[in-house]
Amino acid sequence: MTKLSKKDVLRADQFTPGDIHLILERAATYEAALAVGKELDELRGKVLATLFFEPSTRTRLSFEAAMLRLGGCVLSVSEAKSTSASKGESLHDTIKTVEGYADAIVLRHPEVGAAEVAARATAKPVLNAGDGAGEHPTQSLLDLYTIRKEQGCVDGLTISLVGDLKHGRTVHSLATLLSQYPVSFLFVSPPALRMPREVVERAQAKGISVRETDDLGLALVQSDVVYMTRIQRERFADPVEYDRLKDAYVLTRATLGKAKPSITVMHPLPRVNEISTDVDDLPGAAYFRQSANGVPVRMALLALLLD
Ligand code: NCD
Repeated sequence: MTKLSKKDVLRADQFTPGDIHLILERAATYEAALAVGKELDELRGKVLATLFFEPSTRTRLSFEAAMLRLGGCVLSVSEAKSTSASKGESLHDTIKTVEGYADAIVLRHPEVGAAEVAARATAKPVLNAGDGAGEHPTQSLLDLYTIRKEQGCVDGLTISLVGDLKHGRTVHSLATLLSQYPVSFLFVSPPALRMPREVVERAQAKGISVRETDDLGLALVQSDVVYMTRIQRERFADPVEYDRLKDAYVLTRATLGKAKPSITVMHPLPRVNEISTDVDDLPGAAYFRQSANGVPVRMALLALLLD
């Protein structure tokens, strides 16, 4: 038993410093084991269900890789239309059914709060893999793990979150998680896509400096970490408004010329146009290392929740 046994993972503000330490330390041991090809079987006999009612590449596959790497098995739904949700079944009933087949449930759903609804329907652990424009707490853990690994330490960093801060669930969770550390934030977005006030206020209540701007160049010169995000097309009611904003920020090798040489460039992916491919071979371009970190971090979560 660990203090995370049988818990749900629903929001980034649920993690205590002790939880974060436990998860990230365990992830580092799994990363080392994976690097030397060590076979692990801690979750042999356990079944994970991944229910994805919105598109996903990294989150679903890295959860599934994590479960398989620990010797467990996976049941997967990758499209809402392939489930009885398309016949009108409620999320509650879908979860009551799946709890009969699996030991833990990973859910991605278009509605904010869907993971909370699922968690109320079952005593089995539910992991929120993205609830609409709400939260993406497991992504924020792998983002934090990546920042620590790339920069050596989180304390004292100036971190820019850039792009669609209104609809981007990854930045909502990451800003919340990082608010536990003495960092400075620059939130860079068009005025129409600013960070929700509650996320800003939560950071400020912890004594963190938050500056908001629409000027990426200004932010870049000061940043230790720049976290780019996609403009979330699927959250726009008006396609004209999306077209107006879709190329708001494009990071290129040239624009990074003004940044600190030690800057870490991150992106939860998928990228559309936010980072030019000429950035990819810079030493600080961490986004594919970041997505790979999803496996050890999710291994740690699954092992601790299913302990
Ligand atoms: C993100 C998501 O789904 O919120 N992707 C991911 O999980 N790595 C980011 C996005 O879709 O823009």
